[in-house]
Amino acid sequence: MDNKVSVDGLTFVPYLTSAEIDREVKRVASELREDLKGKNPLFLCVLNGAFIFAADLFREVGLNNARINFVKYSSYEGTSSTGKVKEIMGLTEDIEGMDVVIVEDIVDTGLTASMMVSDLKKRNPRSIRFVTLLHKPESSKTGFVPDYVAFSIPPKFIIGYGLDLDGKVRNLKDIYVIDEE
Ligand code: IMP
Repeated sequence: MDNKVSVDGLTFVPYLTSAEIDREVKRVASELREDLKGKNPLFLCVLNGAFIFAADLFREVGLNNARINFVKYSSYEGTSSTGKVKEIMGLTEDIEGMDVVIVEDIVDTGLTASMMVSDLKKRNPRSIRFVTLLHKPESSKTGFVPDYVAFSIPPKFIIGYGLDLDGKVRNLKDIYVIDEE
């Protein structure tokens, strides 16, 4: 693991290793596999940040009859939330009667998550499960609680494993936290 990462004048230090991420992805995947037994679930990956987590999780869950589709929202500029959630690419298929599994990278204020869930509920799915790689409970402005969480973390800005700073550093295999020193 690299010691420090510099991007756009900010410094980040190691936080979660790829081995730790792998372990927690496997744990969440086995919980989901159990809960989705006998169902034909539709995974909905929230772009862009969740694309790496969703790819790993989807393969780990390992259900041949599960499908995946993608939606895209945006609320962040730089290192903070704008407080406004923009739908950039909506859902194009009918989810009535389906078991939906939303896969998100981070639940921060919870605005994106609660907006998505209330929007999807109007389309009458049979069930909605919300999975997130990271949850920052102290940042919540909505009280939204995800059903499955790989890591609960303090309200600090992080990058790597799909998470970006203005589109960069999604490629990092480990997760880094902003250095506040
Ligand atoms: P929320 O609507 O405030 O919960 O924000 C969720 C979205 O903000 C996530 O899907 C991320 O795209 C972005 N976000 C929140 N915290 C971070 C972070 O620490 N690093 C990178 N992106 C973040």
